[in-house]
Amino acid sequence: MNTVTQRGMSEHANATPSDPVTGLYGGAPGEYELTPRNYWATTLFSRKYRDHGRDAPAIIEHLYEIKRGETKNIASDVATSLKSKEGLFESKFDLFEKTTHPGLRQLIAFIESSVKRAVWHVNGRDVDINRIKVHFSDSWFHITNNSGFHDAHYHGGCSWCGVYYLQMSDIPTDAASHAANGVNRFYSPRPSGGKHSDFGNNYLGAAHLDVPPTPGTLVLFPSYLLHSGLPYKGEKDRVILSFNSTSTLEG
Ligand SMILES: [Fe+2]
Repeated sequence: MNTVTQRGMSEHANATPSDPVTGLYGGAPGEYELTPRNYWATTLFSRKYRDHGRDAPAIIEHLYEIKRGETKNIASDVATSLKSKEGLFESKFDLFEKTTHPGLRQLIAFIESSVKRAVWHVNGRDVDINRIKVHFSDSWFHITNNSGFHDAHYHGGCSWCGVYYLQMSDIPTDAASHAANGVNRFYSPRPSGGKHSDFGNNYLGAAHLDVPPTPGTLVLFPSYLLHSGLPYKGEKDRVILSFNSTSTLEG
């Protein structure tokens, strides 16, 4: 016991003084190094669709045709208290399942391959990507104008969700003093209690993130992320696809 204590004291006495920057002070390489570990990281993905310019007009026309066949603004009847009474059309939730439109089917294939790649990426990229099977549990579209909006919400029964921007005008840039027109706003999943901002937590970023709704862009986000569609008013209608997905590892 005494020997151990003496050896310990001796080691302490001979230790290299702590380096204030690296935190290294002797030992085996890396033994006393400050080790960062990331938990609960939140990842969003975005990806441009190569054939957007060619296919979007016919897809948009197809969606307007579906809209003309509906009698309610919120044809899905889902969470109507979160959606504006005027200015927002929401289709039923079986769009990907039902549509036979060739352009939209190709876009769905692009979305499916993107979700598969995202799932592969966030889970370590060490499985055969072809073993991942993606299923769209819900899929729908919105046509918005005249300040239509969708209040903050989560998506249920899925792991990855997404939005594809087909059309809108007045694409917002940074607006210092006003909410940006028609953006999807994503809210930080971290609790806001004890709110304090300094250089120590600068890396956590802002409390919300506005994703520019650029036509031809797919955005994927995890289902636990609270988000909203801010009011939109523009020369062209804002037309988007949305979906929920589940993924399994087969084989
Ligand atoms: Fe949503």
